[in-house]
Order: sequence, then C-alpha cells, then structure tokens
Amino acid sequence: MRRSRILITGAHGQLGQALQRQYTGHEVTAWDLQDLDITQFEQVKKALAQLRPHVVINAAAFTQVDDAETNQDTAYRGNALGPRNLAVVTYDMGMALVHFSTDYVFDGRQTRPYHEFDRTNPLSVYGHSKLAGEEAVRVANPRHFIVRTAWLYHTIGKNFPNTICRMAGQDVVRVVNDQYGSPTFAPHLAQAVFRLVETDAHGTYHMAGAGGTSWYEFTKALYQALGIQTSVMPIPTAQYPRPARRPAYAVLTSLQHPLIHLPPWEEGVREFAAQWKG
Ligand SMILES: NC(=O)c1ccc[n+]([C@@H]2O[C@H](COP(=O)([O-])OP(=O)(O)OC[C@H]3O[C@@H](n4cnc5c(N)ncnc54)[C@H](OP(=O)(O)O)[C@@H]3O)[C@@H](O)[C@H]2O)c1
Repeated sequence: MRRSRILITGAHGQLGQALQRQYTGHEVTAWDLQDLDITQFEQVKKALAQLRPHVVINAAAFTQVDDAETNQDTAYRGNALGPRNLAVVTYDMGMALVHFSTDYVFDGRQTRPYHEFDRTNPLSVYGHSKLAGEEAVRVANPRHFIVRTAWLYHTIGKNFPNTICRMAGQDVVRVVNDQYGSPTFAPHLAQAVFRLVETDAHGTYHMAGAGGTSWYEFTKALYQALGIQTSVMPIPTAQYPRPARRPAYAVLTSLQHPLIHLPPWEEGVREFAAQWKG
C-alpha cells in the first residue's frame, strides 16, 4: 500500500490502539474524544478539511451495552449520529470511511453462523443504535467499509478476558454457557482491516475470530493458556441477568471476502496469553 494519510477516531479504545500499531509506515493521526467529538458535525467538518486524510477509520463508539438501555440518546449520538457525521463529511471530501459494527445487530435465533446477508434484528438499544449507524454510513458515503465484529478484546482496555483473568483469585468463577459468539483479538482484526482497505472493495463485512464458542469455553481456554487453576462453573444466562438482552447465538462468518480471514479464535487466546501482563 502506498503511504497514506489515515485518521483514526476513538484512537484510545482497544481497537483504536491496535489499529495505530498496524498502520506504522503511514501518516497516522490518532484522535480520541478530547481531540475530535464525532457527534459534533461542525467539528468533524473543520477537522477533516484541515487534515485531508485519504481514509478515516472510525473506532469511536458508545460501547457500554448495558448502560445504553438507560442512556438511549447518548448511545444513538455515539453510534448513529457520529458515524453519520463522518460519512457525510468524508463523502463531500472524497474520502473512504471504515466503520465498525457488531454481532449484536442479530437476534441470535439462528443455529448456523451469521453472514453478511442475514437479516438483522437487534435485541438491545446498543444493537439498534449500531444498526442505525451502519444504515447512516451506507446511505451517506458509498466508499465505506462497514466491518461487523464481535466479542472484541485486547491486553489493554476493559473487556471480558481482562476482567475474567483478574477474577482468577476467587475459588470458583461462574460463567455463562448458553451464549455463543466469536471472540476477536483486536490486533487480528486490525491486520485484516488493513488488508481489506487495500482492496478498495467497499461494502459490509463480517470480521471476527474464526469459529465460535461460549463465554464459559472461552474462559476455560483463557485460564488454560495462562496456567490459571481456578475452577470455572457453567451457568445459564438466567442466573446472570443484565439490563441489555444479548443474542444467544451470534457466531459470525463471511461470504463477502474469500481471501481475508481472521485466525481461529483459539489463536487469539494464545497471543493474548503471551502478551498479558495481569
Ligand atoms: N468491544 C466489543 O466487544 C465489540 C464487539 C463488537 C463490535 N464492537 C465495535 O468495535 C468498535 C471498537 O470498539 P472498542 O471495544 O475498541 O471500543 P472502546 O474500547 O470502548 O473505545 C471506543 C473509544 O471511542 C471513544 N469515544 C466515545 N465516544 C466518542 C465520540 N463521540 N467521539 C470520539 N471518540 C469517542 C471512547 O472514549 P471514552 O472512553 O472517553 O468514552 C473510546 O476511547 C466499536 O464500533 C464497537 O461498537 C466492539
């Protein structure tokens, strides 16, 4: 890829940081909320006019799935209005836009992995707001890559593996065993996105750790990779009620790009364990 000017928004998040490490060798501007609030249209317009990036990669989002249930306006501002602002301005200025969405746009009633052409039907405010963001991006800028991912984690940031590994001091850790998804190691996603953007094949893509598993099996794999002996007890979702409903089965697969795949989710666990500092 020739040297490009790239703007990453939401750059302090777990994906934003993985993307920054991936795009070395390019002219990268990494901005988070305090540098550019994507919900402010005039701010977005002014910033992009000054910076003139070739590609904007939007890793900014309101990602607190449970809080979204009671903060609906904030969720829609971050997940729909913000991406819409970026899409309108990038289209006006002839730039491509990469935007991220989620497996939570699906209702989880399927028994086979979800591909890009499956019907969406979110169960939560977060899922609805992310779907609204996808739709706004599609309408406003045809030069888009909408990348749906799932169960994202990194050694940095607030995520399931970091939390569950820090709980390992307990006698028993209880973990839900009836929700299935695709754990995705953020650096693997950043590598795949880097390759995807090079293709110029705009559209909607599923990109997540290959294969699927439950939170319980995911925990067991993490503990095994880290040599943690704590026993893990499977529990049903009913014993761990949360404000937002999650899809019971949201494993992702892709029909869209035959050449760009993420490694199996187990490889993400191995790399996470090798890098984890506790
Ligand atoms: N995490 C997952 O399991 C998961 C699963 C599927 C899809 N995704 C999607 O993947 C993408 C990246 O997620 P992530 O886990 O890396 O998120 P993250 O760690 O929560 O990072 C999001 C970043 O965006 C910033 N931000 C929030 N509102 C903003 C605004 N209005 N303007 C500019 N920046 C803003 C946040 O700042 P503050 O921290 O200061 O608010 C944070 O630094 C998101 O689109 C998310 O919906 C995530």
